[in-house]
Amino acid sequence: MRSQFLILLGAFLAPLGGANPVEHTTRSQLVVHEKRYSHPNWLLTRRLEPDTPLPLRIALKQRNLDRLSDLLLEVSDPQSPSYGKHWSAEKVARTFAPPESSANAVRGWLQASGVEPARIRRSPNQAWVEVKGATAGEVERILGTRYHVYKRDNGGEHIVSDSYYLPRSISDVVDFITPTIQPDLRLDEVPSYKRRQADPASGVIHAKRAANATGAPTGCDTLVTPDCLRSLYNITYVPKATDRNTFGVVNYYANTYLQSDLDTFFRNYSPALVGKSPEFISIDGGVGEAGWVIQYAMSLVQPQPVKLLQLGNAQTGEFRSFNEWLDAVDGSYCTYEGGDDLTYDPPLPNVLPGGLQQHDCGTVKAPYVVSNSQATHEYAFSQFYLERQCAEFGKLGLMGMTVMYSAGNVGTAGTQSGYCLDENGSMNVNATLFNPSWPASCPWVTAVGGTQVKKGAAAVPGAEEVWNQEIIPGFFQSGGGGFSNRFSTPAYQKTAVQSYLQNLQKSDPAHLKLFNKQGVRRHFHRV
Ligand SMILES: *[C@@H]1O[C@H](CO)[C@@H](O)[C@H](O)[C@H]1NC(C)=O
Ligand SMILES: *[C@@H]1O[C@H](CO)[C@@H](O)[C@H](O)[C@H]1NC(C)=O
Ligand SMILES: *[C@@H]1O[C@H](CO)[C@@H](O)[C@H](O)[C@H]1NC(C)=O
Ligand SMILES: *[C@@H]1O[C@H](CO)[C@@H](O)[C@H](O)[C@H]1NC(C)=O
Repeated sequence: MRSQFLILLGAFLAPLGGANPVEHTTRSQLVVHEKRYSHPNWLLTRRLEPDTPLPLRIALKQRNLDRLSDLLLEVSDPQSPSYGKHWSAEKVARTFAPPESSANAVRGWLQASGVEPARIRRSPNQAWVEVKGATAGEVERILGTRYHVYKRDNGGEHIVSDSYYLPRSISDVVDFITPTIQPDLRLDEVPSYKRRQADPASGVIHAKRAANATGAPTGCDTLVTPDCLRSLYNITYVPKATDRNTFGVVNYYANTYLQSDLDTFFRNYSPALVGKSPEFISIDGGVGEAGWVIQYAMSLVQPQPVKLLQLGNAQTGEFRSFNEWLDAVDGSYCTYEGGDDLTYDPPLPNVLPGGLQQHDCGTVKAPYVVSNSQATHEYAFSQFYLERQCAEFGKLGLMGMTVMYSAGNVGTAGTQSGYCLDENGSMNVNATLFNPSWPASCPWVTAVGGTQVKKGAAAVPGAEEVWNQEIIPGFFQSGGGGFSNRFSTPAYQKTAVQSYLQNLQKSDPAHLKLFNKQGVRRHFHRV
């Protein structure tokens, strides 16, 4: 999947003005290993001082990831003889672990590039090769790159390179190298859901709702209760094995709820649950709780118990990443393909005051169904980061888990901002290409969008329409949709996608050029 541009060393040296990245490969071919998407909010301030110490870390590639799709479909496709024969965590770890030969190749390359053997070591988890005591100048030479210092609008300074080069044989066994191209990112919260939570908490509850002659609840176009959802979506849920099944909700934020709030909600909508709480599972020292998600989840799946997977919240207000719960439910994910990426993931444990002191790896038994009401942008991550995280969702699928994520809040224009992508793949105010949500665009998660009850209608099946809510005049919120720019159309979607494209070709051909309809990774101008 990675974009490898073959170049000859001679051609490569010229634009760098004499910096010689890998003397020993004088006749070998170098490839661009990773290249960065631009980011509009960054201010380029200066070239990084060459004596700045840099913690150089090289993540090794895993085996068999190219087979993940086939392996997953074998256990997921009802037509397959192996349907439902899910894997153990041990089998997953064994099948994908990076081979010893990769580490040896990387060592040899580093030594040939002038790094003393004593400075090279393999990380305890075997997934990284690390170089001690490296400086920016040395790393620039080894990777044929340049580091610059960017200032974010929040004042933070970040070290970034635009691209870097590796000999082809090394590029083949390396996943990614840090610090290099990765931008910094904030997860976007999904506020519209939180607003809905305000109603029950503030007592604005219409406890008994009139059902119309059909028995369907009314008023669901203005306030959605669990009964509205049951009726609208025709949910007739008969639990079969609540003692063996598990349902988890991931919470990323420190917003706390009170048991009394839960009880107010339950008294109105799910009397059997009054006094009941979710099973609380702290990840990395997490203490916050999410009110509305829990209220609806517990009401709809009762008597199935609900687990609340609460991520840690550092006092520094550090942003949470999806990798934290993945690390907690799959210990092998903490290490595979280099483990977390400090440019997107918080440092765990974090030695700084107020930082998270704990890193949970494989300490939480994975629920079979996991719900996440979050979304962020696909464009903002490096390809390797996306592939690694998406492969993990696939591995959870191999183990029999279903992972759901929000489709986003502002239709096809990103998850929050309402900005689209430009021809270079960056998010910009006047851009016109649709901006897919992440991880919704990973083929191995179930993305969940929203519908709303038609104005004045009772909540009968079919009385719904696509969620499109006018928040302020002229500004609408609605669920995301879309086509990934980074992942090919998975086999299981091909028929549905082709028929959608054919219909759109007839009904609205102008829109076809606004998204990646090719079904393979899109190459933006600068990639
Ligand atoms: C609702 O579900 C029941 C059983 O699950 C089914 O028989 C019925 O046709 C469904 N109604 C609608 C309108 O889809
Ligand atoms: C795309 O990037 C190129 C090179 O950095 C730049 O000149 C151009 O203005 C960019 N286009 C847009 C639409 O931002
Ligand atoms: C976006 O378009 C508007 C209207 O044409 C223009 O005034 C504005 O400068 C543009 N902004 C950017 C960042 O290009
Ligand atoms: C009940 O709701 C259905 C669906 O919206 C509607 O067609 C019907 O007219 C309603 N009946 C009454 C008595 O309001």
